[in-house]
Amino acid sequence: MTTRLELHGVHTHYETSHILFDVSLEVNKGESVCLLGRNGAGKTTTLKTIMALAQASAGRITFNGVELVGKAPYEIARLGIGYVPDERLIFPDLTVRENLEIAIKPGAPGAPAEWTVERIYELFPVLVRLDARLGGYLSGGEQQMLTMGRTLMGNPSLLLLDEPVEGVAPVVVQELTRQIKALKAMGLTILFAEQNIHFATQISDRAYVIEKGHIRFQGTMAELAANEEVKQKYLMI
Ligand SMILES: Nc1ncnc2c1ncn2[C@@H]1O[C@H](COP(=O)(O)OP(=O)(O)OP(=O)(O)O)[C@@H](O)[C@H]1O
Ligand SMILES: [Mg+2]
Repeated sequence: MTTRLELHGVHTHYETSHILFDVSLEVNKGESVCLLGRNGAGKTTTLKTIMALAQASAGRITFNGVELVGKAPYEIARLGIGYVPDERLIFPDLTVRENLEIAIKPGAPGAPAEWTVERIYELFPVLVRLDARLGGYLSGGEQQMLTMGRTLMGNPSLLLLDEPVEGVAPVVVQELTRQIKALKAMGLTILFAEQNIHFATQISDRAYVIEKGHIRFQGTMAELAANEEVKQKYLMI
């Protein structure tokens, strides 16, 4: 299996605070991998470091063999990495369709799909009747789908998702689970940050557990499910 994304010995600081310590992880082509951890563990910082929205102070990050450290976020996006931040940041004064159209970008080689607004609507049928609605009037779940749709319009081959179901209603969690599974079935590679192991288990092949900026566990979801010590110590389950 080809390695898509690899972090090796990554450290990240916010000014004088040392946040990530020697983080190493890899995501292979077509895999769905979750980064699990409690509040403040360093999940968002890890995703931001991959996108160069936080600066790695040491270590290597490669995507399809290309070094990302030192590149600008837009250059990393052009290589085919799509980032869905936890703060959803849709344009409140643009319609749903305009929010999607504004994000159209040709895909990097290896992107699994050529997304159009209509294909986004097939994946997220809820958005069809919201086509002309302003972004500012959407519910949390609708905003999450629009944010994901907007990132997909950039035709990524790797999707970074930061807590996609945080704060959305249980019925929307079910829908998002189905949609993320559909993306995986299309061949998209996914790395997502999550606190909820039950949700993560539905859509991931493997997990890394992060605590205080250190990776404490890596393994399959079945290995994690069987590891009471890791779950209690780092996930409070
Ligand atoms: N801009 C910043 N400046 C300084 N410290 C920060 C900044 N952003 C985050 N931190 C700190 O870095 C640590 C990791 O935060 P991060 O947001 O990566 O955690 P997280 O696992 O995503 O948590 P959550 O589940 O709350 O989203 C925390 O201690 C946080 O307070
Ligand atoms: Mg976070």
